[in-house]
Amino acid sequence: MKIAFIGAGRVGAPLAIRLADAGHQVVLAQTADGSETVAAALLRSQRLSAQPLGAAIQDAEVVFLATPFPVVEALLAPLADALAGKVLVDCTNPVGPGLSHGLGSQRSGSELIQSLVPRAHVVKAFSIYGFENLEDPSYPAYSTKPVMLFCGDDPSAKQIVRTLISDYGFEPLDVGRLVQALHLEHMTLLWVRMVRAEGHSPHMVWASLRR
Ligand SMILES: NC(=O)c1ccc[n+]([C@@H]2O[C@H](COP(=O)([O-])OP(=O)(O)OC[C@H]3O[C@@H](n4cnc5c(N)ncnc54)[C@H](OP(=O)(O)O)[C@@H]3O)[C@@H](O)[C@H]2O)c1
Repeated sequence: MKIAFIGAGRVGAPLAIRLADAGHQVVLAQTADGSETVAAALLRSQRLSAQPLGAAIQDAEVVFLATPFPVVEALLAPLADALAGKVLVDCTNPVGPGLSHGLGSQRSGSELIQSLVPRAHVVKAFSIYGFENLEDPSYPAYSTKPVMLFCGDDPSAKQIVRTLISDYGFEPLDVGRLVQALHLEHMTLLWVRMVRAEGHSPHMVWASLRR
């Protein structure tokens, strides 16, 4: 699958590298003035390449968004046509003061993103853990894999993301339509507050058990 990444920092770089290792064709979007994080990711994997933003998106079937949330409005508004019909995987989290929800829990970041690019198929995924679990999602002492919750409105887009989540080494769990993204964002804040503020290990994930 042809995948483009906008953002190649702590989240984007490990995702891009591991998906390229899994056999996907991954290109990093290069910003106009050059990006240190893109350069660093290219040094980490020879399977990655970089292209200017427009070219990277044009050829991609799936685009990962892994930038700080505050930049998405200015970044995405001009890309509405370029992203039409593509799967847009939203890895961002709106974070406010004191590790609160950055949009006051009134609306999810993913729904705001969907409104900026109405013809893209936004799926929120790969967002609920810190980057440590993206660098290494394996928990070999357990017979079950870490769960990765995801949501979105387009069934075909979600099927694609489900496969990417499996390729990555997580167990995919579809939690519903994009309106569920607000709850995923709060779930992320729970993990972040536990780990970054309450002293829990970042090597901590959730599991989905059924009977
Ligand atoms: N860190 C975590 O553990 C974690 C976990 C889950 C989700 N998240 C969410 O994932 C997102 C990325 O977090 P991160 O920790 O990976 O951040 P980061 O390490 O600061 O990386 C941000 C990336 O976005 C790029 N970027 C910034 N502004 C941009 C713009 N206007 N246009 C294009 N690219 C731009 C940066 O490029 P330059 O190098 O050129 O600045 C960099 O590659 C955030 O929304 C965060 O809330 C983070």
